[in-house]
Amino acid sequence: MQPQILDIDAKTVDNAVSIWREGGLVAFPTETVYGLGADATNNAAVAQVFALKDRPKQNPLIMHVADEATARRYVQWNKTAEKLAEAFWPGPLTLVMKRRVFCPISELVCAGGDTLAIRIPANPIAQQLLKAFGGGIAAPSANRSGRISPTMAQHVRDEFGEAVKLIIDGGPCQHGVESSVVDVSGDTPALLRPGSITKQILEAVLYPSDKDNVVKKVASAARQELLVQEAGSDGAHKSPGMLASHYKPSIPMRLYAEDVKPGEALLAFGPEPLAGAVTTLNLSPSGDVVEAAANLFAYMRALDKPEHTAIVVMPIPAKGLGEAIADRLKRASA
Ligand code: TXA
Ligand code: MG
Repeated sequence: MQPQILDIDAKTVDNAVSIWREGGLVAFPTETVYGLGADATNNAAVAQVFALKDRPKQNPLIMHVADEATARRYVQWNKTAEKLAEAFWPGPLTLVMKRRVFCPISELVCAGGDTLAIRIPANPIAQQLLKAFGGGIAAPSANRSGRISPTMAQHVRDEFGEAVKLIIDGGPCQHGVESSVVDVSGDTPALLRPGSITKQILEAVLYPSDKDNVVKKVASAARQELLVQEAGSDGAHKSPGMLASHYKPSIPMRLYAEDVKPGEALLAFGPEPLAGAVTTLNLSPSGDVVEAAANLFAYMRALDKPEHTAIVVMPIPAKGLGEAIADRLKRASA
């Protein structure tokens, strides 16, 4: 049986919620990428997510909820969480917080650790589903571990074939790169994964500088920065999912290309794409990183064809959202 790809309506919502309650999996759109969702309190359902994705068990999952009140039921809330949630929820921000002592969420979701990552997506379809479900849905990106994240319903089908019975179609994802993951469980917040919300914007909310206040002005001379947690090769870093190699196409990728060799496909950026490629897709002809981020994974998939010897990528400025793009490209080409 082909998996069903359905548009959202009241019947589909009911259908998805019953599948979740019975311990099954439903793929659904968010504003970042498509997620593969399971009831976060159900060990067997969450285990199925790990199995299907072939995901290492030490890599925890993000739990999705409809609203802040639901989020607070599961974690130890604090001032930093409050600030960031107020500014960015619902939206593409994931907060890592300490689990409450009596937290019913499956240990598998947290990979046995004492923190839980939570996100409230803004996508109206995701909102509708989460509201109807009421609790937490553990949902990693709906791709096999290490591969390119899905930004369209068809990508999910391409990844899992018939194994995921229900895929809800919300069209192409608005942002195209995953949520920014910020750990607020310790004394200083740490950016574990650069994402849809840029470091600069997060810092503006975390460390606002009051221009009229002289004392603060002096303090802001030593401008506070959001601690960025770099992925290490030792496996000891705090966001286990930030593996050096990820988002992999099946053919090689070459970054910062200045020329194209015969047989190569080009992922272009800006008004002057390089010549000589078998196939060219331009992430943003006008050189807009926001547009480029939205197209990134879909174009990588489209160029990932055996008839190409490699995907070569033109330089993209690593500013603003470009930082998340650079991060994904680095891992994809590792
Ligand atoms: O935009 C997104 O975040 C998408 C959509 C579906 O919401 N989800 C997503 O999930 O990207 P996933 O599993 O592909 O990536 C989750 C990231 C991983 O790097 C994981 O290690 C990290 O979040 N993470 C999850 N729980 C964590 C925790 N308790 N502590 C530290 N990092 C955590
Ligand atoms: Mg992922």
